[in-house]
Amino acid sequence: MSNSTGQGNLKYSTGWQCPSNIALVKYWGKHSNQLPNNASVSFTLSEAATRTFLSWEEDLGSDALKLKFIFEGRENPAFEGRIRRFLENITEPYFPFLKSGHLSIETSNSFPHSSGIASSASAMSALAMALCDLETMITGMTPGSSAMLRKASLISRLGSGSACRSVYQTAAIWGELPSLAGSSDEWALGLSQEVHQVFRSFHDDILIISPEEKSVSSSAGHALMEGNPYAPARYKQANERAAKLIAALHDGDLDTFGKITEDEALTLHALMMCSDPSYILMKEGSLSAINLVRQFRTETGIPLYFTLDAGPNVHLLYPDEYEEKVSRFISSFLKPLCHEGRIIKDKVGDGPVKIS
Ligand code: DP6
Repeated sequence: MSNSTGQGNLKYSTGWQCPSNIALVKYWGKHSNQLPNNASVSFTLSEAATRTFLSWEEDLGSDALKLKFIFEGRENPAFEGRIRRFLENITEPYFPFLKSGHLSIETSNSFPHSSGIASSASAMSALAMALCDLETMITGMTPGSSAMLRKASLISRLGSGSACRSVYQTAAIWGELPSLAGSSDEWALGLSQEVHQVFRSFHDDILIISPEEKSVSSSAGHALMEGNPYAPARYKQANERAAKLIAALHDGDLDTFGKITEDEALTLHALMMCSDPSYILMKEGSLSAINLVRQFRTETGIPLYFTLDAGPNVHLLYPDEYEEKVSRFISSFLKPLCHEGRIIKDKVGDGPVKIS
């Protein structure tokens, strides 16, 4: 952090690193201004992350946002356009100070852009944490308070729904569940205190079956839920599964965790297949990996489970104590299914970190 209060204009700067997250119960379908149609639950990851540095310099003669945006060391008009639109939407209602100054954003990911890892969750949450931190410096609010995290979650949500879960360590739930006090459609709630030890060091090895951009974006996928005849039953099912999964995370119940997580992954892709128009994001390699994981589990009794994002890559979830055995299985049977043998090893993590 820096705050220059010399003779010139006020200047503040900050930097945040925020991780990606992997949904266990999936957010799929939204309404109004980025509000979810059902509750979702995720693990916060640690390795796949975005680092974002902000600096803001007061310019009292200005009444509109001035932005400079650098991605991985260079200008990027496509990303800049998305960030500019996002900032224009949130400035007036949430960060009016932004209007009277110049904002400079420098951001980079810990993973290559075309690696098949979604970057919007880590990118939007890192930007939201940094903006909220700037606000605390300017307004004197308490940094790191639960109110700040809640606002960062809300702002992240407006950038990309799933991003709102990335501001909390270990695990988070987004979406109102009657059985869970404090849960909300507006922001996510951290579940860290409620998660059993076995899940705190869980692995998420991501099999990169294909690094290509998805043929149908998540935004288009959410929109297709509107005409999907199974949508009402799906939203009800997701809320029931979210409540059951939270109980399983609390109790360290691996069987229930695995069943719900795998059912959710396949339900997400089934919803895509029965959208109109229908589409398929899994590849042959995804299906082969799923079948091999189930076979391995039956034969060894090792609690290795899979989940899928809105894409072909397969996330392998398992407890730390089985790392060696699972690694051997992956090298022998799953690595050959991956694009150039690529696997990204991630783990459940501690959430956002302030880096300057
Ligand atoms: C399948 O958060 O990317 O990963 O709100 O339109 O930015 P937008 O969608 P996004 O959707 C993520 C969908 C998902 C499931 C999940 O993360 O819950």
